[in-house]
Amino acid sequence: MSIQWFPGHMHLTRQAIAERIKDIDVVLEMLDARLPGSSANPLLAELTKAKPALKVLNKQDLADVARTALWLAHYNARPNTRAISLDASVTAPAKALIKACQELAPLRGGLTKPMRVLVCGIPNVGKSTLINTLTGKRAAKTGDEAGVTKAEQRINLAPDFVLYDTPGVLWPKIIVAKSGYNLAASGAIGRNAFDEEEVALELLHYLIPNYGAALQARYQLDVVEGQSDEQVLEAVARKRAPLLGRGRANLQKAAEIVIHDFRHGVLGAISLETPEEFAAWHAEGHKL
Ligand code: G4P
Repeated sequence: MSIQWFPGHMHLTRQAIAERIKDIDVVLEMLDARLPGSSANPLLAELTKAKPALKVLNKQDLADVARTALWLAHYNARPNTRAISLDASVTAPAKALIKACQELAPLRGGLTKPMRVLVCGIPNVGKSTLINTLTGKRAAKTGDEAGVTKAEQRINLAPDFVLYDTPGVLWPKIIVAKSGYNLAASGAIGRNAFDEEEVALELLHYLIPNYGAALQARYQLDVVEGQSDEQVLEAVARKRAPLLGRGRANLQKAAEIVIHDFRHGVLGAISLETPEEFAAWHAEGHKL
């Protein structure tokens, strides 16, 4: 089974972005540094392809540094594109962000031609956090709900530098099954849209060969290498969750623990995809 996710109402967002984009100099797309490919919305690429693009790989504190470097190189090799990584919640990213925008649109700046930047990204990627960090304010967060039209936010970062928040909600779009699992593991899609045990097994499938030592240390497992996803989930359950009747392992509880620990960086800095892997999933036709 794969993840079923049809949030709908994208036509409202499509119209709003298409309208706003006319007056925009740089499109800033926030991505989850742990899953940059899967957290990108292809609709945005389609609507904004002529515009300079700044990719912000956010949550870098939770992501694998070496893999983030691969993704930065991947995006920086694209024409008309710059990429930076940051942790929107603690660092003061304004300098790097403003510099990247100036490189992308060197003719903008000054009071008569202020830089106009559109901040886009799927829910939960860190847009509000970034805007709050940049402005030093705690702006109220509007709900990410299908059908809710968000009032457009205009933020004057400097007299000649204006940020616009995404008009509408840019939902994730799942094109390959693996992206659906990665989005679910990261917390980007609704809890009711997936089965936690299935997502935890897919997560373990990636973690066992790539981050086996982290799993072993966190859950004090005797062995991880060479074990199946099911065996590791059961081992986590036996270590960390009370047994069910007749000594059965509580796999549901173990799944919740593994997903929680990944989301909050308890397993260490982990990324779920490299540019090469992401391209291969598309090429191999893991299409839905
Ligand atoms: P959104 O506007 O794009 O929907 O995302 P938002 O800023 O609300 O961020 C979603 C969650 O991600 C928040 O956590 C936020 O604190 C966290 N976050 C944002 N940027 C970073 C980052 O760079 N690193 C880390 N580790 N976390 C980040 P939450 O649990 O939903 O809320 P809260 O408990 O932090 O208030």
